[in-house]
Amino acid sequence: MTLKHVAFIMDGNGRWAVAHGMPREEGYKHGLEALMCVVNRLNARGVEAVSAFAFSVENNARSAIEKAAIFEQVKKFNRSYFGNLRVLYMGDIDALDDDVVDSIEDIERRTCKNNGTVLNIALNYGAQTDIVHAAKVAYDKGVFDEAAFEGALATAGLPKLDMIVRTGGEKRLSNFMLYEAAYAELMFYDKLWPDMTESDADDVIKEFERRVRKFGK
Ligand code: FPP
Repeated sequence: MTLKHVAFIMDGNGRWAVAHGMPREEGYKHGLEALMCVVNRLNARGVEAVSAFAFSVENNARSAIEKAAIFEQVKKFNRSYFGNLRVLYMGDIDALDDDVVDSIEDIERRTCKNNGTVLNIALNYGAQTDIVHAAKVAYDKGVFDEAAFEGALATAGLPKLDMIVRTGGEKRLSNFMLYEAAYAELMFYDKLWPDMTESDADDVIKEFERRVRKFGK
């Protein structure tokens, strides 16, 4: 089976930085480099969509230094990316600072006609909030079937989620794409996110092709 949509929980950036003698917040710069390396490889291999968990609603409780470091990487990426990925964001974007919102609108506009992999970045995102919102939209429309519900999720229009990959040794979903995860394959790495390479991207594809998917049948 072909891998069409893979999602990454990019865990372990802070630990990676500390292990390399840097302050925790330095890890996000290296985390973004690893993401680009992995996504560019998946793009070259024809994967249709990659979702990446960059900032959860729960991450708002982190220190101001750490939050600033993550949003610095987001703005840097949005301003400097000129490849063929189609970049989308999902989450409560309007609640973020104006300069972050502007940079997001800019990259989404600039890349909207690109024909490469869709890079769907979850920012200020929580799956439970997204599910409750979709339920409300479906209720307001008076149409409460799966199609109406799925059409109101932040991932509407993306291919069905095939696989979730989490680095950093933890084995949980942490409020990420919970509805979409229904039949997704799960893959866990002990290695920390900034250590991910092109060859890991190849391994993710290979591992997915090895899995036998039965969808309950
Ligand atoms: C969890 O790792 C990861 C995050 C809170 C954010 C990751 C964000 C990036 C790599 C930047 C992405 C930028 C773009 C443009 C997509 P952690 O560092 O909290 O892990 P740890 O504390 O367990 O080490």
